[in-house]
Amino acid sequence: MKELVLIIRPEMLEELKEILDEVHCGGMTISSVMGCGTQKGVVENKVNQIRGFKININLLPKICAQVVVEDDVVERIISSVRERVASGRVGDGKIFIRSIEDAVRIRTGERGSKAL
Ligand SMILES: Nc1ncnc2c1ncn2[C@@H]1O[C@H](COP(=O)(O)OP(=O)(O)OP(=O)(O)O)[C@@H](O)[C@H]1O
Ligand SMILES: [Mg+2]
Repeated sequence: MKELVLIIRPEMLEELKEILDEVHCGGMTISSVMGCGTQKGVVENKVNQIRGFKININLLPKICAQVVVEDDVVERIISSVRERVASGRVGDGKIFIRSIEDAVRIRTGERGSKAL
């Protein structure tokens, strides 16, 4: 099992939900977060100032989606996200991938993939 942590533009959430539905993911956790990448939140053509003070790091609203899936759908999710969630502009986001040791469905006690 792998956990994908996908940080995307808020307006891309509906597309991401469709992609996750297509791979029959068991569930997902979505949070509204603030973040920045290599541009440190500097938006093109915008002066990075607040009340005249220059700011070095600006945080922009993003969506963070966490989803635990079976290993065999990971690459399919990544390629669909690359095709359908990218605008091609900076700030499209990132996917972090980590291994998950085990899972438990609290109601039934099912473990591992059965708990997803
Ligand atoms: N190294 C990181 N660690 C944690 N979160 C990150 C990291 N890089 C990016 N993020 C998160 O992803 C969001 C989008 O990052 P972003 O797409 O701007 O990355 P980037 O490396 O600057 O790529 P690009 O040059 O395409 O913009 C950030 O707002 C932040 O929430
Ligand atoms: Mg960036």
